[in-house]
Amino acid sequence: MSRLVPVGVLGGSGYTGLEVLRVLRGHDGVEVRFSTSDSEAGKPTPMPGLSFIPVAQARLEEIEVAFLCLPHGEAAAWVDKNGKSVPKIVDLTADHRPGSGRESEAVYGLPEVNPAEVAKARLIANPGCYPTGVIMSLLPLQKAGVIDDAHPIMVSAASGVTGAGRAPKRELLFGEVFGDYRPYGLGNDHRHLKEMRATLPGLQLLFVPHLLPVARGILETIALPVRAGVDAARVKALWKNAYGDRGAVRVIDGAPSLADVSGNDLLVLGAFDNVGLATPTVTVVAALDNLGKGAAGQAVQNMNLMLGYESGRGIRC
Ligand SMILES: NC(=O)c1ccc[n+]([C@@H]2O[C@H](COP(=O)([O-])OP(=O)(O)OC[C@H]3O[C@@H](n4cnc5c(N)ncnc54)[C@H](OP(=O)(O)O)[C@@H]3O)[C@@H](O)[C@H]2O)c1
Repeated sequence: MSRLVPVGVLGGSGYTGLEVLRVLRGHDGVEVRFSTSDSEAGKPTPMPGLSFIPVAQARLEEIEVAFLCLPHGEAAAWVDKNGKSVPKIVDLTADHRPGSGRESEAVYGLPEVNPAEVAKARLIANPGCYPTGVIMSLLPLQKAGVIDDAHPIMVSAASGVTGAGRAPKRELLFGEVFGDYRPYGLGNDHRHLKEMRATLPGLQLLFVPHLLPVARGILETIALPVRAGVDAARVKALWKNAYGDRGAVRVIDGAPSLADVSGNDLLVLGAFDNVGLATPTVTVVAALDNLGKGAAGQAVQNMNLMLGYESGRGIRC
């Protein structure tokens, strides 16, 4: 049997940390040595036989890969203090993503886009959940020059409540959320826009997030102005050309929905033509699980590439 690579999960009791543990439970190339949580120390993790340990007891010298599933700002602090102790790090926070001010320290890891760079990286900035759907949808289209960038691109996005983390918040109580559907972050200044703008320079993104009363999943509906003669079939052909059948991207003919992605690590894309508009516009629909392809699944794909494994090893497709 081949060697199991020792890994550790920092912040394992949060939603993304728990999900990393669930993905790694089905991975045959790594062994989780520890998972930290101060508030849940001693309690069982999703990994059979493994309990949470306090962060101060993490033996970093034992691991080859660290997953940072920490609150914003804590990952940067952790890297400053401990970065040299662990050979490879996958940071699930926004602390090293494009637009963070620390992006030069890390490789932004989109496994289907820049696998060779990811493979050589020491520190990966794992993309955000909303940005993954938008960037993966638009990047190949921008590269091919089919987007009419004179017009704003309207992104209407909805996320389940796990997107806000596991710490209790009054506005996320069941009684507040259930049966409701509402936008938030109005005014086009959601914190994820920095990452999207830095990765898709020159595109005018109008991003409107909504809170969906489900636990998990993201659906993004994008009104995409395109150059004359460009249609949904062209868009789908460009995606298929960019992503092929590799990795975790699926291009489908119907409309992607949360049922396609909830609990797995896929990004599912669809494109549709529209009539009755002066500006040719294709509707793009992207579905992904905020905890899957939007966090843990993509983090494990990045880890796989860093370890020389096939990127899809262990992920849930
Ligand atoms: N939720 C999503 O859908 C999603 C998707 C993509 C990326 N992200 C990003 O991933 C990161 C984690 O998100 P999350 O939703 O998993 O958050 P979360 O549910 O709030 O979990 C945070 C984790 O960090 C630990 N923690 C808190 N303060 C800490 C500290 N000072 N030092 C060490 N550990 C600490 C917590 O456990 P203890 O307090 O018990 O130690 C917990 O395990 C965030 O930066 C978030 O933006 C989230």
